[in-house]
Amino acid sequence: MTEVEIGIELTLNGVKRPSRVPPRRTLADHLRTDHHLTGTHLGCEHGVCGACTVLLDGEAVRSCLVFAVQADGSEVTTVEGLTGEDGALSPVQAAFRDHHGLQCGFCTPGFVVSATALLERNPHPTDEEIREALSGNLCRCTGYQGILKAVRAAADGERPAVE
Ligand code: FES
Ligand code: FES
Repeated sequence: MTEVEIGIELTLNGVKRPSRVPPRRTLADHLRTDHHLTGTHLGCEHGVCGACTVLLDGEAVRSCLVFAVQADGSEVTTVEGLTGEDGALSPVQAAFRDHHGLQCGFCTPGFVVSATALLERNPHPTDEEIREALSGNLCRCTGYQGILKAVRAAADGERPAVE
């Protein structure tokens, strides 16, 4: 039986991207499979780990819990979209690199996107607020200190070291 597909259009990392998707395809699978944006990682696929976090109309959401059709007409920013057109890392990305927030890297996109959303709405968070904002992102390497340091540095407006 042919699966029904529905036409949707996302503004994906700043570019309008029309496509057709099965109604039950998650946004995470749509990004990875149909748009090859594999920076969005899938860990639990149950809304627990935060690895699949993307920005949906500026809000950090778990893309494994959103159907692609629900995002129709929205702006979606993935970790790839945080990088400048010239390939320059965003301040949060650069701070993760500079403060050992990367580690194995699997959870990193989710942390970077969540931290970016936090600093958008609260440019000078306290440590408590940073911990709270990142509490939905799990890191199996348990390297939270480097991640906290990185977010603090990005909040302080520390500029990345020269490439
Ligand atoms: S993969 Fe979405 S929260 Fe874990
Ligand atoms: S860096 Fe490995 S799981 Fe977080």
